[in-house]
Amino acid sequence: MKTMDELKKLAGERAADKIKSGMNVGLGTGSTATFMIERLAERIQNENLEIKAVSTSWSTTLLCRKLGIPLMEMGEASHLDIAIDGADEIDGKRNLIKGRGAAHLLEKIVAAMADTYIIIADDRKKVSELGKKFAVPLEILPNAIGLVTAKVEALGAKVKVRQGAPGKDGPVISDSGNLIADAFFDGIKDPETLARNLEHIPGLLGHGLFVGMADRVILATPDGIIEF
Ligand code: A5P
Repeated sequence: MKTMDELKKLAGERAADKIKSGMNVGLGTGSTATFMIERLAERIQNENLEIKAVSTSWSTTLLCRKLGIPLMEMGEASHLDIAIDGADEIDGKRNLIKGRGAAHLLEKIVAAMADTYIIIADDRKKVSELGKKFAVPLEILPNAIGLVTAKVEALGAKVKVRQGAPGKDGPVISDSGNLIADAFFDGIKDPETLARNLEHIPGLLGHGLFVGMADRVILATPDGIIEF
């Protein structure tokens, strides 16, 4: 029986092997993305792979610097050949919830630049309906927290400002200096409509519903990899 980390590694490595020399690559954030990035670094060393990467968080930037992966600023890029990232929930139509690590705003910008957007995960992440177990992460302009909370709650959610883990008292602040909150919907029947409604709220800078963005999911199961 494979451990969770072994499954994440399997999916991450399968995705890293799809990167070709000359590509501009978007690199996601999180534990599954870390396995993919480590494999990419190995390939750069062993195969002289020439790539340029855009990182989606400080956490990924520091990892890339440590492993010698060449980075460009996100603001310099408008088009990427491929982007690879993890997810928190994935439905049968490849719609996603992302943002456990508060990187969903930058992750979505990078995903939108990519010709091919690949999601890597262990099979625990596959769900029949989004939002039953996991909340939708929000990134909110601090001055808009009151308005955004009221508007998102009017859509049927309970909103909670995310609090720092040990090591940070008070709210979680994103890499772009905004507040992070979680919207608990207890199931999302129509992710497309909800995403559209969230996008109309002033001061809500980003949300973790990724609808119709993923081109491919690489899901590692105890019986092997499933791609869909
Ligand atoms: C970062 O904010 C998230 O979107 C991650 O990509 C997502 O939570 C998946 O992370 P893991 O691979 O660590 O589960």
